[in-house]
This record gives sequence, structure tokens and C-alpha cells, in this order.
Amino acid sequence: MTAPDRAAPVVARTPEELARIRAGLGRTALVPTMGALHSGHRGLIAAARERAEAVVVSVFVNPLQFGPGEDYERYPRAFDDDLRACAEEGVDVVYAPGVETMYPGEQIVTVDPGPIGDVLEGASRPGHFRGVLTVVAKLFHMVRPDVAVFGQKDAQQLAAIRRMVRDLAFGITVVGVPTVRDHDGLATSSRNVYLSEDERASALALSRALLSGADASVTGPVGILGAAREVLDAAAADTVPVELDYLALVDAHTFAEVPPDHRGEAVLLVAARVGSTRLIDNVPLTL
Ligand code: PAF
Repeated sequence: MTAPDRAAPVVARTPEELARIRAGLGRTALVPTMGALHSGHRGLIAAARERAEAVVVSVFVNPLQFGPGEDYERYPRAFDDDLRACAEEGVDVVYAPGVETMYPGEQIVTVDPGPIGDVLEGASRPGHFRGVLTVVAKLFHMVRPDVAVFGQKDAQQLAAIRRMVRDLAFGITVVGVPTVRDHDGLATSSRNVYLSEDERASALALSRALLSGADASVTGPVGILGAAREVLDAAAADTVPVELDYLALVDAHTFAEVPPDHRGEAVLLVAARVGSTRLIDNVPLTL
């Protein structure tokens, strides 16, 4: 079935163009993205449309959140496809600034994520959350959204953004949308295009490990982590091995690891490398 034809979104390239367009919009929801839009992004856009009169999607591959040796240059860029997807999803405005527009000079003032920026993804990717929060803060100032929509797939990013919005009084409603998975369980991600067929088969161990952990939730933190680790240990011996970076059960707000007697809400997180691709996934749990 083909999607119904919709008007193409208006494209703004500079904050000035965007401000002129924004002045004519009512209640607005922003979906910040780095492009290479997939079904997960379409879910974010659908959630945005339910909550506002106008939807702005930003498309910007943010150099500030990539460390040395990471995949900034290689990150998939597919602007024409992104515009088509945005048209199909009824997006009103696509904001796609260039790097020079977003960072006209050295970015000396940045947003400090606090302790959440130093653990898990923050420990593996030093400076990553400072880069994310800085660009999201700039996008918030440029777009002035009433609502901003993010995926729960990047759970630590979502928690850091919620905290920034609260601590710096942005006055924006942040909405988290559950992770979209492909039919085989792999969480959708723009980076999945890097995976060969064999790598993709191995990568399924991440969602299997989370499922196994979730199934053991009545046994508490030790049982959950044990069940997930068993799946990952087996996957480490696959022909295409899954190289575990971390497996952790954390508090959903602080991302500090929960104690063995923890009861209530938590998030089970995994990060691993398959071939040259680094993947993350998570599942929210109630213990
Ligand atoms: O999740 C992403 O795609 C990015 O981290 C974001 C939020 C668009 C900031 O560059």
C-alpha cells in the first residue's frame, strides 16, 4: 500500500528562515533527528502530530556529539529520502541547518550534563552527552517548540534531556516514545545499515538478552542480569562475535546502577560492538 500524497514540508536552512516560518505556526512539536529516517522516526513524528498543530523535524548530524574515531564522516546521510518520509508523515517544516550555520564559530559555551554524562554511554563516549545537550538546547532556542519528542531507544539521552529541560527551565514538554523494533526484534537505528547479514544475525542477541532479562524480572536484579548475561556470553562465541561494552540495570532517572534489593522501576541496558558497528538497546522494567 502506498502512503497518501501529502504536501512537501517547507525546508528551512537558517535560524532566520525558521523564525519567519515559526511565527505563523501554532502549538508546535519538534522531533530532533540526525536524518536517515526509519520507522522509529516515523513513530516519533506520529506522536508529535498527536500533540501539536504543527510538526518540525530537524535533520542535523551533530559533529559535537561524535568522539575522535567515531562514525561522524560515515554516518548515513539521505536528505532526499528524509524529505519524502517527512512528506508522507505530514511534517510541516524540516529544519536542516549546515554545520557552519549551527556552529558559526568555536562552541565555547556548552551544556554540562552532570553525573549522568559520565556513566555508561557517557563513560564509553566521553563528551557525547555534552554534545547532545548543547545541540538540543540550540535547537530548542531556534525552534521554540511547545513539545519535543525523543525515542526511548536512547534512554540515557532522554533522561539527560529531561533533566536539562527541568534544571534549565526550558518550559518544554518532553515526550518519550517506546522503541520500534524490526520483525526480528532488532531495535530500529540509522546505524543498522552498517550491518552485514551475518552481523545482523549476531546483533539479535542484544534484544534476546533484554527479553531474557525481562522474563526473569521476578527474580530481582541479580537474576535479571544473570539471565541477560547468559545470552550475551553465548553470543560472544558466535562466528561474528558480539563484543559486550556494558550490561547494566539502572535507575530510570539517574542511570546509577540499582542495588541487589531494588524494587520498582529500572532500565536494563546493553551496549555492544558487532563488527565495526556499536549498538545500544534497552528495556524498561518494573521489579
Ligand atoms: O538522537 C539523535 O538522533 C541525536 O542524538 C539528537 C537528539 C538529534 C541530537 O543530535
